[in-house]
Amino acid sequence: MLAIRGLGVQYGAVTAVREIDLDIREGEIVALLGANGAGKTTIARAIAGLLPFRGEISFRDQVLKPNSAEHNLRAGISLVPEGRGILARMTVEENLLMGIYCRTDRRAATADVGQMFERFPILKERRSRLASLLSGGEQQLLAIARACLSKPRLLLLDEPSLGLAPKMTDYVFSMIGNLRSEGLTIMLVEQKARQTLKFADRAYVLETGRMVISGTASELAGNAAVSEAFLGGGTKPPHHAN
Ligand SMILES: Nc1ncnc2c1ncn2[C@@H]1O[C@H](COP(=O)(O)OP(=O)(O)OP(=O)(O)O)[C@@H](O)[C@H]1O
Ligand SMILES: [Mg+2]
Repeated sequence: MLAIRGLGVQYGAVTAVREIDLDIREGEIVALLGANGAGKTTIARAIAGLLPFRGEISFRDQVLKPNSAEHNLRAGISLVPEGRGILARMTVEENLLMGIYCRTDRRAATADVGQMFERFPILKERRSRLASLLSGGEQQLLAIARACLSKPRLLLLDEPSLGLAPKMTDYVFSMIGNLRSEGLTIMLVEQKARQTLKFADRAYVLETGRMVISGTASELAGNAAVSEAFLGGGTKPPHHAN
């Protein structure tokens, strides 16, 4: 579904990622793992069309141009950005309506907003509330719901569990699993490697802008180097207890 070959991104003189190859097949959950500053967000933003880049990104046999966010969204790529990107001074409902702005099937889109309220009763309860007044977990749900309203084929999630309590993280992860069962393809950027590898199909590991390891989630979960670097080694708890 998505094929990346030789991707490179620079921020001015700073090379953020280089020589990245990555594939996502229809129906997969692919995890992109790596420590702070490894380049995960950069790759997600390049796929979404939010950055200039070198190399090639193709999506469903179509070559994507750099800086073509609007086009990529219409082609079916939707990003839930790091930090969620919800509009704090708008209500929950207004935020959801932002999710359908690119759709031409207005009537169906409006009905889909209603369905989101049924799916997430907590959002319905809070529909007239300012988004800034929601908890972190509720904001994450809102951001994911909004992204789904653009009817993506590929959903890019950038650290959806960041700052969430463990229970809420479990809930968000189970919801990601549900979305996949409904046919969505997902790229999940995460630092919580151990938990992510439990339900991803395959994973890529980035280290300072380069892809160092890739494989099935179960291979990576059993890989000593991965376990050392990202899971905190053998039976010890993870370094990053977040
Ligand atoms: N706007 C920018 N200008 C300059 N350098 C940047 C910019 N954004 C990111 N970088 C640099 O690019 C590299 C990759 O950053 P990126 O945000 O993609 O990493 P990340 O893996 O998402 O990290 P984190 O886990 O902290 O979110 C880092 O060295 C970072 O400092
Ligand atoms: Mg990031």
